[in-house]
This record gives sequence, structure tokens and C-alpha cells, in this order.
Amino acid sequence: MPDLEKQKQEFLTLCRENIKRDGLEDLLGWLQKSDFFTAPASTRYHGAYEGGLCEHSLDVYHMAKKAIAGYELELTEESVVVATLFHDLCKVNFYKKDVRNQKINGTWQEVPCYTIEEKYCFGGHGSKSVYLVQQFMKLKTDEAAAINCHMGATSGGDSVRDTSNAYAAFPLAWVTHVADEAATYLLKR
Ligand SMILES: [Fe+2]
Ligand SMILES: [Fe+2]
Repeated sequence: MPDLEKQKQEFLTLCRENIKRDGLEDLLGWLQKSDFFTAPASTRYHGAYEGGLCEHSLDVYHMAKKAIAGYELELTEESVVVATLFHDLCKVNFYKKDVRNQKINGTWQEVPCYTIEEKYCFGGHGSKSVYLVQQFMKLKTDEAAAINCHMGATSGGDSVRDTSNAYAAFPLAWVTHVADEAATYLLKR
């Protein structure tokens, strides 16, 4: 289980040391009042435990730094921090603690779990994160594309072409996507 206070301080320090933009403290204030630092990252896949969302966000930052070094990309630290740490803000106030029945040693028992209880339906994942960040702080074009397209092209038609075009136009967008996948599929916790 992650050290909630330690990773919260790492998150806040990364933001405050690298993001020099109006509205940052308003955004951080909202996050600290929300469940961001205690929420899971998913209900059953990656980070399905308390603090999983903040942990995953930091993982994506660190994986992005590895990809940027490996591919010798020139990206500003501020934009990397913005895109990676805020890409999943759509999951704020999104999960709730619940219980489910599980058979343990032949008997059914209630075990704790997380389920989805969306408090604010926006109708998108990356797009919702972009919208939420921009309630507090302006995003640069490549940062917005990176957050919006971080899930990759998962449906047909325009989505595939537009996501591909965004990756071609903005290395930050491609890096955020692969770092999200690396954090999800390569890190075994
Ligand atoms: Fe996501
Ligand atoms: Fe993610």
C-alpha cells in the first residue's frame, strides 16, 4: 500500500517546483479538498486500493521521464508535469468504498472493494480531465492534447485518425499515452 502522505508531498512538490502558472494553487486546493489523494486508480485493475490514483499519476510522470530520456525528446519539465500528473483528474470523486461477497475457504464473506459512483457525468475521460484542469488553470495546446488523448485510439473512425494526428503533432501527447500504458501494464505492485 502506498504511503499516502509521502506521495501527496511528492505530488505537491513536483507541481509547485515546476508549474509557474496562474491558478495552480486553486487547482491544488480543490484536489486537497477532493478524494484525489486517497482514491483508487481503478476498481479492479491497476491501483485498486487507497492512494492508487495519486500513485498511478506519479508513476506516469516517472515512466514519461524514462521515455523522454530514452528517445532524447526535448519537452519542458513544466508541461510533462502538467500532462502526467493531471491526466486522470476525471477520476476525482468517481469511486466509492463498497463491499462484495467473495467465497473464502468455502464460505461467502463480505470483502471491501471499490465501485464507480460518478458524481459528475461529463461524457468523456481525457476530455473531462482537460475540462476540470481548465476550471482552474490554462493548459497549453500540447498539454491539452496529451491529457485528452492519453487513452490512445480505442474506437474506430475519426477517433483513430485524430488521436494519431495528435501524437504526430505533439510528442508530449504520445509520451503521456505510452507512459500511462507502461505505468499500468509494466509496474507490478
Ligand atoms: Fe486515464
Ligand atoms: Fe492513467
